[in-house]
Amino acid sequence: MQLEYSVREAELSDLHKIMVLYKAVATRSGGIARQADEVTETYVRNFIERCHETGIILTIENPLNPEILIAEVHTCSPGIKVFSHLFSDLTIVVHPDYQGKGIGSLLFRALFKEIELKHPEIIRVELIAKESNQKAIRLYKKFGFKAEGKLEKRISGKTGELEADIPMAWIRKEWQLL
Ligand SMILES: CC(C)(COP(=O)(O)OP(=O)(O)OC[C@H]1O[C@@H](n2cnc3c(N)ncnc32)[C@H](O)[C@@H]1OP(=O)(O)O)[C@@H](O)C(=O)NCCC(=O)NCCS
Repeated sequence: MQLEYSVREAELSDLHKIMVLYKAVATRSGGIARQADEVTETYVRNFIERCHETGIILTIENPLNPEILIAEVHTCSPGIKVFSHLFSDLTIVVHPDYQGKGIGSLLFRALFKEIELKHPEIIRVELIAKESNQKAIRLYKKFGFKAEGKLEKRISGKTGELEADIPMAWIRKEWQLL
């Protein structure tokens, strides 16, 4: 049976479902900066509310059980006038059971469609990825993000070793040559 995944805006009522999703990712696949015990209600509530005010937050339900979310992406404005043309802190997660099936790409397509059509003021989108997270870095490059250097020894891994973080940015096409 071909499952159909659809993207919708995440609501505050999704808070606990998003917590479950983030905890599964933190525990099983990693990739996000937080460990499972750092995925708190305050953290999730904070980014849902901020993104409703000044950004975008999208999610995908499990088509067999809408009570379960299998993916989420969010990014929002830093909230300062000089940065009103950018979205930052982009974070994406796909449930470990659903990774590598095109779900992250589906979310990114929806996200950039929304940015291009509904947010003409946004010229730049920023994120940071751990250097070892090549899966994520490949996804970002596929959608036009470029690495902007390397923050050496910025982030610690599970065994305490320090590794580089890679700041990356997407620039709206019309602005790339200016
Ligand atoms: C990174 C992540 C969001 C990608 O989502 P996904 O649904 O697995 O990705 P997709 O199946 O849509 O694949 C998108 C691209 O990612 C890359 N990719 C996906 N799986 C990969 C793998 N196993 N090895 C290498 N690259 C991979 C490829 O470039 C792929 O594009 P392609 O299929 O056209 O080659 C997902 O793996 C995830 O949630 N990881 C854990 C959390 C995380 O790391 N978030 C990012 C924090 S910076």
